[in-house]
Amino acid sequence: MGLTRRQFLMRVGQAGGYSAAFVMMQSLGLLAIPEASAESNKLRLVNGKGTHVVILGAGIAGLVAAYELTKAGWSCTLLEARERCGGRNWTIRGGSDVEFTSGVRQSCSFDEGNYFNAGPARLPSIHHTMLGYCQELGVALEVEVNSSRGALMQCDKLNGGAPVTERRAVNDTRGHVSELLAKCIRKGALDEEITAEDRERMIAFLKQYGDLKDDLSFKGTERSGYKVDPGAGKAMPEALDPLPMHALLDADLWQGMLAEEVIDWQPTMFQPIGGMDRIPAAFEKKLGSVLRSGAVVRSIRQSASGVTVVYRDRASGTDQTIQADYCICAMPLTIVRTLDADFSPAVRETIDSTSYDSAYKVAWEAPRFWEKENGIYGGLSYLQQTVNVVWYPSARLFSDRGIVVSGYSIENGTAFGKLPDIDAKLAASRQAIELLHPGHGKDLSKPVYISWGQIPYNLGSWISGFGHAGQGSLDVLLSPDRRVYFAGDHTSHLVAWQEGAALSAYRVINQLGARIENGGNLAS
Ligand code: ALA
Repeated sequence: MGLTRRQFLMRVGQAGGYSAAFVMMQSLGLLAIPEASAESNKLRLVNGKGTHVVILGAGIAGLVAAYELTKAGWSCTLLEARERCGGRNWTIRGGSDVEFTSGVRQSCSFDEGNYFNAGPARLPSIHHTMLGYCQELGVALEVEVNSSRGALMQCDKLNGGAPVTERRAVNDTRGHVSELLAKCIRKGALDEEITAEDRERMIAFLKQYGDLKDDLSFKGTERSGYKVDPGAGKAMPEALDPLPMHALLDADLWQGMLAEEVIDWQPTMFQPIGGMDRIPAAFEKKLGSVLRSGAVVRSIRQSASGVTVVYRDRASGTDQTIQADYCICAMPLTIVRTLDADFSPAVRETIDSTSYDSAYKVAWEAPRFWEKENGIYGGLSYLQQTVNVVWYPSARLFSDRGIVVSGYSIENGTAFGKLPDIDAKLAASRQAIELLHPGHGKDLSKPVYISWGQIPYNLGSWISGFGHAGQGSLDVLLSPDRRVYFAGDHTSHLVAWQEGAALSAYRVINQLGARIENGGNLAS
């Protein structure tokens, strides 16, 4: 039996977060596809003539809102609890400290020049808004290699537990599927479904698609790699024997094999040279004194004429008050729900009913054995194990040492999340490398483990659900609660993407512009 729709969704969701699941649901017809949103994604700046907006949270949504509104003559104050801005856009380098809510601390000691993008680590080429900001702000990009046919797939039920290359898993699966389908058609099993003319054309296609023999059998393909490599001697190159179809089905490696088809993971993808935090750093430079760091928001109160926000200034330990005309609340809802705020009952219920995933990543520094021994340059390997993903660096290819991420998924509801402590988690991470690259588990050093559910001021990685009302709840946050507007990727259809955060800022900026054009009244 194949995967049920639900299982398939859950697997995609597990690796890719809500956004990948959302795309899958749309393509399976389980969710309505929103109207073409080109218009609402366009920024329309209206001169704010000094109207004061207090923006809460300097993640991408808050940064974009502050940057654009300031450009358009609004007076902005951007409050950020941490000393750094960027939110989940956080690059860890030698000297960085990681502190969990539990008090557990890790200090990173990577070599100079090495880094780990603990949050976002890839920019799709279809995310025009973020790529546009990189251009506008001078953030240099390089290709992020998001899939590699030399990367590995491992399952105890396949190939005696030894990893196989992605090229082999993909092309052998394709060969088997093509053989079965072509034979069905040849036998007439699909005569009711397709015309005689299309039968022949489909068979011709399948022969090419699966690299089948003339008798429509699949006997292996050079696309999967060689048993005897092509060279200059007498020996003819020989393709690897195909992996048995039964073992491939048993191994269930589809998630990894199909990852490249998820729209946001299709090549070409990019990354800022030197770390994803080059993006918030570039915004910060533009914002100057608009950004107030170390400002922990405590309360929000609204009146007929304005919004009052009280924050704790960490440096002085005192409470400070800001009066503004409007507020953009761009903090994660896990934090918003802890505030003393006079939200409307509908907004309060929505905020309280949301759930968040807790994504984790484990990064290590290591000599680049994956490049030297396997010819893997970037991309991800997939395993059917507690740690099911290994992500190789695209930065500084061919250099001596690199940062490899062994483990990226969610902790809630997964075997990894159930491991008792950090030592067990690091051991599972090292074991994944050992299974893929035997003998190299010992080469990993300087681990950094990030678990977003335990990071102060995040308490989660991305929204995973909206409680009972589902999509209806998102709609509640798309309109302002009197003078408070909500932004952040959680208020977009691009959850867990910086693009979603940036577009949510555009929506709010457009709403604010329309409002002051309407004399400060909400459009009826
Ligand atoms: N946007 C996140 C990723 O690509 C979910 O991993």
